[in-house]
Amino acid sequence: MCGIIGYIGSRQAGPILLEGLKKLEYRGYDSSGIAVIDDGVISVIKSVGMIKALDEKSKGGSVVSGTVGIGHTRWATHGAPSDENSHPHLSSDKRFAIVHNGIIENFESLRTELKSLGYKFTGETDSEVIAKLIQHHYCGDIISTLRTVITRLEGSYAVGIISADKPDALYAIRKDNPLVVGLGDGENFIASDYTAALEHTKNFVLLGDKEIAEITATETKFYDVDGKQIKKKPYTVEWNIEEAQKGGYAHFMLKEIFEQPRALTRTVRPRIAGDEIKLDGIEFDGDYLSSLERIDIIGCGSAYHAGIVGKSFIEKHCRIPVNNILASEYIYSDPITGPKTLTVIISQSGETADTLSALKIAASRGSRTLAVVNVVQSAIARAADDVLYTHAGPEIAVATTKGYTTQIAALYLIGLKIALKKGSITVKRYKELLSGLVTLPQTVEDMLSEAEVKKVRKYAEKFHNQKCVFFIGRGTDYAASLEGALKLKEISYIHAEAYAAGELKHGTISLIEDHTLTLALVTQEKLYHKMESNIKAVKSRGGTVIALASRANSKIKSCTDMLLTIPDCDDDISPVLTAVQLQLFAYYIALKRGCEIDTPRNLAKSVTVE
Ligand code: G6P
Repeated sequence: MCGIIGYIGSRQAGPILLEGLKKLEYRGYDSSGIAVIDDGVISVIKSVGMIKALDEKSKGGSVVSGTVGIGHTRWATHGAPSDENSHPHLSSDKRFAIVHNGIIENFESLRTELKSLGYKFTGETDSEVIAKLIQHHYCGDIISTLRTVITRLEGSYAVGIISADKPDALYAIRKDNPLVVGLGDGENFIASDYTAALEHTKNFVLLGDKEIAEITATETKFYDVDGKQIKKKPYTVEWNIEEAQKGGYAHFMLKEIFEQPRALTRTVRPRIAGDEIKLDGIEFDGDYLSSLERIDIIGCGSAYHAGIVGKSFIEKHCRIPVNNILASEYIYSDPITGPKTLTVIISQSGETADTLSALKIAASRGSRTLAVVNVVQSAIARAADDVLYTHAGPEIAVATTKGYTTQIAALYLIGLKIALKKGSITVKRYKELLSGLVTLPQTVEDMLSEAEVKKVRKYAEKFHNQKCVFFIGRGTDYAASLEGALKLKEISYIHAEAYAAGELKHGTISLIEDHTLTLALVTQEKLYHKMESNIKAVKSRGGTVIALASRANSKIKSCTDMLLTIPDCDDDISPVLTAVQLQLFAYYIALKRGCEIDTPRNLAKSVTVE
């Protein structure tokens, strides 16, 4: 979705803004633009399409000179991608330029009002009203003008503002949409996302709802909506810029697949002290657990799939019923929840609008909320009662990989902690699983050896022309199949469906014909024979089957066309290993098909609209 970067300092703003925009590309966009204060005049350059086009048009940002500016990547919602609709937007007198993320819900009435007052609109976006509104309410003092503007805007917004009247300052306001101020040395930044400014600083301040930031090269001031100056505490983001760069890999997705051992180590290791799991201060006391009747796990996309894996694990070991619910369904379902339900909210970005709304509804009905989030200080992390960070590092590819597997690892930690406290697991089994979790990163590392990856690639390339691929499995293998199918759809545009293997015969099997490809997941020993019959049923109808099995189950090869294996590990934590193989499978198919792997069509990394 849209991205914002702003700069103020002593260097030329244009090239810095362009570099920042490139870091925001992964969020998904279809046009971009920058505005720089150039000798008391605001110069704007915009371009439809990739940043490369803006880069060429602005000669790497050098055609505008000036040390204060804002930039934007736009993901079209109101109005098609066009120069008119792209940001930055100017006020009619060209004294203000703004960039906006979010949606102004009352933009139509504001537009009608401003039009009747003589303001001319050039595009169709909701965002343009903000520039005109600032001009309309401008009283010579920008802070009081912005206070008034905040009272007039409904909806969600993160806005960066520059003014020709105040050429030595950069301003920002926000509500329900992320915006951080990056603190540099003799220069400062605004950004919708840490990665845009990470090259320059690791120190940030989060702008709060309905707050105003006034930023110069050497100073940052914050005000509440009443104009009262407020003190804000900076924090450090422990990500490094290398993690936000491709580092020799062809795609961020491939790099992030290979980063999984390190990411999983960061999720798990710091939380284990001897045989104890320490969840950053999150505790479940005995009284709470004895009153706990249910756990709702809520998320969207892959985060929802991570929750499905978590359900099997938690139900099995904690003996507490778990519901998996899509956030977008939860919020309109009048959910039955309250103090006896623990709501676990999963979100890599921590900004997904549906997921955030679900959290707020659960909390308003008295449920304790626990967020499993990657991005520090994100909206979901701040809104939840408890937060367990996955510490996966920045994830740039739209299709999540390390974000997803670390969410599963975090759910395992939560499940194990509850199970031990509740006494629903034996100490022996608890220790076995804990040690499986500790060695999991190394097991993933082994799986990512050249020989193993080559094998997946060979099969993937062989099937790159498939029209449709089925993924089947039972239990946790079914849960893992859902994510495998989603990965393939997202990046290769091949139609893929995941089915509970036992359901095939109830309908889907009618779709199996000669050479239809099915990936059959066979990692659970106890389900081996059931899977064997399901595979035979597919084969006998002419289908082609690749089995993805644990090494212990590799005898399944005799009834399949091809075999991929995962190292032997505890059945209960195998979905992490399966996920890695399926990520590679999707990646190499998409690569062979020549797809835009890191930025698949129509998808956005962080979906901040419902
Ligand atoms: C988008 C992304 C998915 C992601 C989902 C949830 O749809 O394209 O890859 O799984 O959002 O994102 P979150 O940040 O909440 O985990």
